[in-house]
Amino acid sequence: MQKLKIKGPVSLNGEVEISRAKNAYLPILAAILLTDKKVRLKNLPNLRDIKTMIQLLKNLGVQIEEDGDYTVFDASTLNSHEATYELVKTMRASIFVLGPLLTRLNKAKVSLPGGCAIGTRPIDIHLSNLEKMGAKIDLRAGYVEANTDGLQGAKLPLKFPSVGATENLMMAAVYAKGTTVIENAAMEPEIDDLANFLNSMGAKISGIGTNKITVEGVDELCETDYEAIGDRIEAATYVIAGLMTNSEIKVTRFNPEHLEFVLDKLIDMGAKLEIGKDYVKTFPSKLKGAKIETAPFPGFPTDVQAQMVALCAVVEGNSIIAENIFENRFMHVPELMRLGSKMDQQGSSLFIEGGAKLVGAPVMCTDLRASAALVLAALVSEGETIIDRIYHLERGYENLSLKFQKLGAKIEVINE
Ligand code: UD1
Repeated sequence: MQKLKIKGPVSLNGEVEISRAKNAYLPILAAILLTDKKVRLKNLPNLRDIKTMIQLLKNLGVQIEEDGDYTVFDASTLNSHEATYELVKTMRASIFVLGPLLTRLNKAKVSLPGGCAIGTRPIDIHLSNLEKMGAKIDLRAGYVEANTDGLQGAKLPLKFPSVGATENLMMAAVYAKGTTVIENAAMEPEIDDLANFLNSMGAKISGIGTNKITVEGVDELCETDYEAIGDRIEAATYVIAGLMTNSEIKVTRFNPEHLEFVLDKLIDMGAKLEIGKDYVKTFPSKLKGAKIETAPFPGFPTDVQAQMVALCAVVEGNSIIAENIFENRFMHVPELMRLGSKMDQQGSSLFIEGGAKLVGAPVMCTDLRASAALVLAALVSEGETIIDRIYHLERGYENLSLKFQKLGAKIEVINE
């Protein structure tokens, strides 16, 4: 079993280049199913979730080849409408194929994703709104079975701005007859990226970047060549690493506007940052605690909550962090406490007594972002931290140990 060994405390320096966003490429990969024309995607990150989605596309009959920095997809050979439990259980984002399969083939059979470590994560918003577009949906033997005589445009007011539902419905609407209007749509930058990708193939999507997305159905799509945005969550993780270790590092190749809320909060806490068009530079800063609550974009992202908890554990003063998106997203807390941080969870709120002097210990990854928080804490812990179950990290952080090594961290993958 591979583990990460990190020796702290360290000071970092240099530059780190952010990978393309996993959460943008996952729905874009599913959207490939919409067209029988070739799609070329640039710089797909080498991540477990991306490999899982590619395997799912292959199982559906899509032909895939590598061409330098590009991966080339040909879904003209699509020959199945079924996403099996074996793949869906390993990655919830597999549900993204439901909308594209249904609108292209008029039928789809996708395993129900089930819960996951951070919460129950139902898909009722996806399903009830597909029904409004004319899909007949049955839940049978652990599968969503959806059929239609042809999807129709509809007005879809979402009861909550779900990221995945907004993406699924946007894809489903591409060939639907007439106009679909998604109201109370999620506004995460990855949704804009999916819309831009679909429009680059000839889809007619407007209202991009707002909470009202309009899709005019079209009859066909064309070839495209696309590169996704930089991963704002990976970028936030490195910016927090720079601040936690009191270091000067430059985090490049992403759009800091996508992280505005996080950067503003860090500046409020005392962070000295230089914010460029496509980079953020950190400087040694004296930070104090914060009051933070997670919210849909443009609010504070739940995917940066765990990393922020690690930061708040070591800065001066107390912090309160409320998790409003997922009901069970504090699993990093007991692990961070093993390193010496002082925290008390009460329901969806976490009270943190800052200024902890952390000491290395064996800890365990529980989910993707929780694992990132452990890496950050280990960088400032005295002595050696061994992080187990790092396959969680490999789902979402490309070349994490290499990138941190280049910044001067004492981090290595070990086999034990
Ligand atoms: C996406 C991101 C994930 C991020 C999350 C919130 C991808 C692949 N994943 O997940 O990293 O943490 O957005 O920013 O992009 N909900 C329902 N019914 C539904 C759908 C969602 O009740 O049909 C609830 C969920 O249980 C959760 C909340 O809505 O409590 C947010 O979920 P959603 O925005 O859908 O997140 P995902 O798309 O799963």
